[in-house]
Order: sequence, then C-alpha cells, then structure tokens
Amino acid sequence: MDWGMKNRMAKIIRPDTGRALMLAVDHGYFLGPTTRLEVPRKTIEPLLPYADSIMLTRGVLRTSVDPSTATSVVLRVSGGVSIIGPSLSNEGITTSIKDAIRLNVAGVGLSVFIGTEHERQTLLSLAELVNQGEEYGIPVMAITAVGRELEKRDARFLSLCCRICAEIGAHMVKTYYCEDFEKVTESCPVPIVIAGGPKLATELDVLEMAYNAIQRGAVGVDMGRNIWQSDYPVAMIRAIRAIVHEGYTPKEALDLFMTLKEEEVKKRAAVN
Ligand code: 5RP
Repeated sequence: MDWGMKNRMAKIIRPDTGRALMLAVDHGYFLGPTTRLEVPRKTIEPLLPYADSIMLTRGVLRTSVDPSTATSVVLRVSGGVSIIGPSLSNEGITTSIKDAIRLNVAGVGLSVFIGTEHERQTLLSLAELVNQGEEYGIPVMAITAVGRELEKRDARFLSLCCRICAEIGAHMVKTYYCEDFEKVTESCPVPIVIAGGPKLATELDVLEMAYNAIQRGAVGVDMGRNIWQSDYPVAMIRAIRAIVHEGYTPKEALDLFMTLKEEEVKKRAAVN
C-alpha cells in the first residue's frame, strides 16, 4: 500500500486501537428525508466530535458539515435509485474521483448488490472505483447491500459478498452483523465494519451487536439509525465509542449510556 493510501486508511481505522467508529448519515441518497435526519446539520453537528469518520454524500457534506471539522470523511459515491423506484439495486457511480479528492476525503464507499439482476453492473462499478482509488491513493469501502430483502443477512450470503468485494480489490467492506459472524470476517482478507440496520428494540441490543461484531473480527461499526434515531444520540454514540475504542463490555457501555442520558435529561429540563 502506498503512503497516501495508508495515511487515508489511518484516518478511518485508528492506528492506536486498530478500530473504526464511522457515523453513517448517507441514507437520504435513496430514502430522502429519513426520520431524524430531516435536517442533516442538526443531526450531524452534536455527533461529529465522537466519530472517527462520517459517511455521507457530497451534497450533505457541502451543505451541512463545517469544513473545519477534524472528523474524516468517507464519501458515498454510488446511487441513482430511490425507495419509490422499481429497483434499489440499479445503482451507478454518482461522483467523480476528482470531486472526492477536491473534498479531501479519507475514502469512498459504494454499494454492491450481489445476487440481484444488477450484481454485474455494481461489481464492475466497484472494480472501476478501485482502479481509480489505487491511482490516487483513495481507499474504497464496498457495501454489501441487501435492498429490501433484510432476511438475506446470513453468514453464507454475507461471507460470499464480502469475499467477492475483497477479491475485486475493495480496501474495506461494510456488511451486516449476523449469526456465525466470524465466518464472514475469517474469510475476508480486508477489514470489515458493520452497519447497524433498522433501529433495534433496546440500547443494550445495539451495544451487544457492536460488541459481538468486534469480538468476532470486525474492526468497528459504520452505524446510522441506531445512533441518530435514539432519543439520546450523543449518549448512544459515546457508549458505542467506549465499546469500539475503550474495550467496554455491553453492560459497562449501557451504564455509561444511562449516566449520559441522565445528564442530558437534566440539561433539557433546565432549558425548558
Ligand atoms: C445505506 C447505508 C447506510 O449507511 C448503512 O446501512 C448504515 O446505516 P444503518 O446503521 O442505519 O443501517 O449504507 O445503504
């Protein structure tokens, strides 16, 4: 790996812990104004100091993130579909590598839809993006998307997806947590982060998922809704951060969440 590529990777995966806390706020690229992400700046600003990197589109980056931020950027560069269109998998590349460089990104991310009618198209887009990333020293994160078919999230399917992405040259992969997750990480020679998926029932569920994913070989999380759809998003990201970078157990992280939540409750009461 060349120096520039290594330097950018170090802005996504912290060299001192070997772990990554990525904040995903790219959902609008196909969902529009997702619940609690209606005004991106409002959602992003309080969370940004606690994330190592933020994953988003160029439109939200330019309009809703202060350029003086110390948090790194992983730019979503695929899209072209919407939740109300005929097919979520029919994605192409939306953003040139030149624009990504202009935005000083640490990495770029693109979804692949393996097992769909668009697997060839999205995998060839990944290959093209890796070619460009290698040329300019920009790491590429492949995202093993499942579209509406959330039931596809099992170790057999996800290990096939992650391995194919790594074989094509992705520098890291984002996938879902699943049972027997170690089968996914063991057979993928590049680092894996997990998405959070739809909001889970309790905070402990989210913390356990993050903890278990790391125990089973993930380098961290690229999480969205389970953070910013929480009623206490800052407490949530700080609790997850404690798991990712400080070795907290889910129970310890839940205690931290409860303490921070109480502080927030008092602060809100004082304002009202
Ligand atoms: C959408 C994405 C999201 O960034 C990803 O799903 C992470 O967000 P969440 O934790 O809300 O699932 O890549 O395709």
